[in-house]
Amino acid sequence: MEIIEVLQEASRRVYDKVKHLAGTADAAGDFGRGAGGDISRNIDITAEKTVLDYLEEINFECVVLGEECGRVELSSSPNEKKGYLIMDAIDGSANAVRGIPFFCCSLAFSTDYKLSSITDAAITDLSTGDIYWASKGKGSFFNQQKIKVHTENPIYRIVGVNTSGASSELMKKLQPIFEKHNHTRHLGANALEMAMFSKGLLDIFIDLRGKIRIQDIAAGYLIVKEAGGLLLNENLEPLDSDLSYKTRLSFVASANKKMLEQVFSEIE
Ligand code: IPD
Ligand code: CA
Repeated sequence: MEIIEVLQEASRRVYDKVKHLAGTADAAGDFGRGAGGDISRNIDITAEKTVLDYLEEINFECVVLGEECGRVELSSSPNEKKGYLIMDAIDGSANAVRGIPFFCCSLAFSTDYKLSSITDAAITDLSTGDIYWASKGKGSFFNQQKIKVHTENPIYRIVGVNTSGASSELMKKLQPIFEKHNHTRHLGANALEMAMFSKGLLDIFIDLRGKIRIQDIAAGYLIVKEAGGLLLNENLEPLDSDLSYKTRLSFVASANKKMLEQVFSEIE
């Protein structure tokens, strides 16, 4: 079985398990703080357990880096290098708990302890079951259809900006983006926003809060790149990072250099 098939099957199982749970009182149950630092909700725990159970069922040897469960060694010989499965079983937990139909399961596989070693990725829209996925060097897909970022001059310029918990300083800096000729969007699940950007639905996606965790962007990292997008850090240099739980990032995903320059000339 190819690694991408493992990620896809794990996400399908999460979809089947949680599709009727979102928005119910049962979704919200409080399990204390997870490894990523947020309160783990019942829907998060249920989704993670579904992935972990499946990986154990098929004896998939790896180190899981889960947003709630933390580091879990799934290996009969722990010293042997097996790669990392980076899991945000529910990205957009607040949407999922409240029943806003915009949340996803984000799974990535990396051969080494850094983003640039990610070889396979799957982001599943848990409201529809649609899967965005990519394998290194093979392109990005939406279900069976190959996808690319939007490179033509857009009729409406759609600018995704994550403003959740942004400082007043950052809001001040970004203010021209909201004022000028943009259609700004903030949907509440970074991984799914990166996937939709990769399908050409957004022209640029900006998260300069310095808050995003590896689990939230690992799968999006590969899907954006394989769809032809630029993925940059806050200094507009190529994004890379270790996979540590301590790491918090800022990033910009842009369809091309021209779009990046147009939007950033508004705020600089
Ligand atoms: C969150 C979402 C959200 C972003 C937060 C993340 P979670 O992930 O990606 O869009 O603003 O910073 O923590 O907690 O729902 O997995
Ligand atoms: Ca999560």
